[in-house]
Amino acid sequence: MKLLKSLALATLILAVAAPAASARKEKKKTYNHVTVEIPKVEKTVIPVETEHTQLVLMVQENGVLQTLHYGIRIADPQAFKDFRTLRSHDNGSGPMAYPTTGGRYIGEPALHVKYADGYHNTQLYYTGHDVRRNGNVVTTVVTLKDYVTLLEVKLVYDAYQKEDVICMHSEILNGSKQAVELQNYASGSLYLDADKFYLTHFHGGWADEMQMDGEVLTHDTKVIESRRGTQATQCNNPSFLVSLNTDRLQENTGEVVAGALAWSGNFRLSFEMDESNRLNILAGISPFASAYTLSAGQTFTTPDFIYTFSGRGAGQASRNLHAWARNYGVYGGGQVNPTLLNSWEGAYFTFTTETLLRMIDDAASMGLEMFVLDDGWFAKDYPRNNDDAGLGDWEVNTAKLPEGIDYVASYAHEKGLKFGIWIEPEMVNPKSNLAHAHPEWVVQSPGREMLQSRNQWVLDMSNPAVQDFVYGIFDNTMQLAPNIDYIKWDCNRIVSDFGSEYLGGDQDRFYVEYTQGIYNVMRRLRAKYPDTIVQCCSSGGGRVDYGALKYFNEIWTSDNTDALTRVYIQYATNLIYPACVMASHVSAVPNHQTGNVTPLKFRFDIACSGRLGMELQPKNLTEQERALADRCIKSYKQYRDLVFTGDVYRLASPYDGDYYALMYVSQDQSRAVVFTYCTKYQNRAIGGHPFRMDGLDPARKYKVTELNVNRSCWWGSGKTHAGDFLMNGGFNPLLLQTFASAVFYLEAE
Ligand code: DGJ
Repeated sequence: MKLLKSLALATLILAVAAPAASARKEKKKTYNHVTVEIPKVEKTVIPVETEHTQLVLMVQENGVLQTLHYGIRIADPQAFKDFRTLRSHDNGSGPMAYPTTGGRYIGEPALHVKYADGYHNTQLYYTGHDVRRNGNVVTTVVTLKDYVTLLEVKLVYDAYQKEDVICMHSEILNGSKQAVELQNYASGSLYLDADKFYLTHFHGGWADEMQMDGEVLTHDTKVIESRRGTQATQCNNPSFLVSLNTDRLQENTGEVVAGALAWSGNFRLSFEMDESNRLNILAGISPFASAYTLSAGQTFTTPDFIYTFSGRGAGQASRNLHAWARNYGVYGGGQVNPTLLNSWEGAYFTFTTETLLRMIDDAASMGLEMFVLDDGWFAKDYPRNNDDAGLGDWEVNTAKLPEGIDYVASYAHEKGLKFGIWIEPEMVNPKSNLAHAHPEWVVQSPGREMLQSRNQWVLDMSNPAVQDFVYGIFDNTMQLAPNIDYIKWDCNRIVSDFGSEYLGGDQDRFYVEYTQGIYNVMRRLRAKYPDTIVQCCSSGGGRVDYGALKYFNEIWTSDNTDALTRVYIQYATNLIYPACVMASHVSAVPNHQTGNVTPLKFRFDIACSGRLGMELQPKNLTEQERALADRCIKSYKQYRDLVFTGDVYRLASPYDGDYYALMYVSQDQSRAVVFTYCTKYQNRAIGGHPFRMDGLDPARKYKVTELNVNRSCWWGSGKTHAGDFLMNGGFNPLLLQTFASAVFYLEAE
């Protein structure tokens, strides 16, 4: 009622005030140096709440919208109405909900607009807000306006009640009669208040993605940015965790804010600690070479900035994000995807129909559920027999596969397997018919050498004709055989020396419209192929973000299939992204990327903590190895629903020591699977390592069984134990050697 009253009042005030402002503007023809009256509004608290968390926005009397609190949910957020702080407003302007360049604000702006007359000032004032509930999601839209330039911004907050996650974005409307230039246009801003902030973020490179990094933030601004265009996440990821009042990431204790940007192109995260020790986090599209011209009346919608607050360490923050991802953020999230054999590391480019059929036989007899034909099956005039030709010419290479794809796919289906196939639709090799037919589709700058990477060029996805072509590649590939079940969508180079013939004089739109182009294509494809499983691969984890995951079921976590390297990559990936998206394959040793030799059991135990696959030539396995593989695949099917839909609890971090352990627990706490690994021998292992299980019902009894061994490494395997015993130090498996690993299945009585 109170809310309705203030809304009505605000609308009334606006109805009177707005015409006056615009009349004045029209008369002057220029809007700078104009004194306009900002309508007075009532101090209003706008709580954006989930079951356990709360973001408190506050409209000050002067109409400025501020963020007063993000954290634990307080019973009566109206208490913030009288909240005072002595922090000076003369030097800066307080924690604005969406800081803009202009007024007293001097920090990193969420929004920086350059107007037609060359001025850069934007000052946004509250004009109204609206709250709608749709089941589990409460959406709050706050409208802000600059009364001088008539720019309007809607801040949209979707609060996912059960998951304790807020997704926010902004909608920027140019209400003036002239075009404006958006120079910074972040999705959102989040102010946090603490004595100390520990930032965890992710860096890496090819075959080494998602390495966890961290630091105590100091004053000024820490920026994490990608300018790679495609493969935006190969070196940095648009995600983070900020731990409050501590100098390390803690799993089970302390306040942690975790966030991610749902955008598959250039991104920018900034963490600015001001002179009052307040931290402002901005997340958005990178402004790099991307000043965006917004014509009169046009609206720009920014991608979602997703965040969560946990009062119980990083573990709860991950579980919140994962639950949101499974329920809303990942295409087909929560569905169990099939185990598979992928042809890449087992055959690379060198195969015949016979090679593939025998791999299918082996996959079927091992109990795998799908066969995926990777790179090398296409192009006739410039056959794809290595990586220097063929991309762009998506016709079956009948010299290599005379019977066609249908024959191979039907064989897989007859054997009871699903069938999947690889494409790399955004790319073209100079050695291809496509490159000759459509040189204007290639990303390039006039008069300059067209730089190759992996012998290929990037197609200009900002061009709608290219989008149609790329849509057609997927669509036509789906027609190569009835019932293609899975597409692996690859993308093997970054954008450099960018330029788009299609965009002509407006090159600043390139990076944004490239990414929007992919989403346009994926939206159309999903309308036609809602049930196809689509993997997002980009030389491994080059496109791991919640923007892509709206359309893709899973990611190829890394080209690095070495189980030891995967320990670190998967641990860090899973801080932000749920296990159901992490494709993880058992490959041959010595490992093709690192040369490491690890036991097959260790390789399986690592791969089984994500979506299990194999990527080797099965006929090279010994009989003993085959027996172990069959056993691991069989037991995976018994518990994999926990990997796909359970809650993760991390018991030991490989970044902190020589053990890695995690478990997935069913939502009703009746079943769980525990993975334990030793990455390096140490003498103290002879006492058994005391892991504390987590997430179980302390009062229930669980039968614990070690899987895939004849003799367990834990004395308690095969027996029943109370949940509180398992969670308080009774569980101490003997992981004696480097690469020892053990998987335990728990079932409540
Ligand atoms: C890079 C991918 O990440 C690999 O898995 C494989 O599909 C190759 N491309 C094929 O060229």
